[in-house]
Amino acid sequence: MNDTSLIPKTLGEFLGEGKKRAVYAHPERDDLVVKKLKLSKKRHRKYVAQSANRREKEMFDALDGREEQKWFARVYAVSHDGVYLVMERLKPVSKPPESYPDWLDEAEVAFHWGVSRDGNIKQCDYEGSGSHRKFLNHFGFKK
Ligand SMILES: Nc1ncnc2c1ncn2[C@@H]1O[C@H](COP(=O)(O)OP(=O)(O)OP(=O)(O)O)[C@@H](O)[C@H]1O
Ligand SMILES: [Mg+2]
Repeated sequence: MNDTSLIPKTLGEFLGEGKKRAVYAHPERDDLVVKKLKLSKKRHRKYVAQSANRREKEMFDALDGREEQKWFARVYAVSHDGVYLVMERLKPVSKPPESYPDWLDEAEVAFHWGVSRDGNIKQCDYEGSGSHRKFLNHFGFKK
């Protein structure tokens, strides 16, 4: 599912940033965040960042219908140019949960944990390119 109608025209409160993306509250939905590329004049960096949003969506969608999807913040939409990603909002937590499945380690997904509205602990930054490859391998997808 790619519900691009959820991509807002304006951004809400700034929540945090990483190397590739700045993250904002969604202006109309307090259960969502918007991840926006930090646009760079350097073509390569811009490409890497665009890929990050696309990879996060691809990874989430790859788990459609599987129980393992519960470990990842839901991705609702990515813009066609990869600049915006709309994701379920998590309340950040500083420590990982006491237990999580081994395959999360094996898939080397980044350990950015947060709590969803329904009280489940999930990851909110899982796009790293190495993670992406291992993740798809782990689940028997191509790449
Ligand atoms: N789903 C979310 N809900 C709430 N806050 C979030 C969410 N996703 C990200 N954030 C906040 O925004 C920050 C940056 O997001 P994220 O880590 O995804 O960016 P990034 O550019 O991929 O980072 P990195 O360069 O480390 O890979 C996070 O550290 C977190 O504080
Ligand atoms: Mg990241």
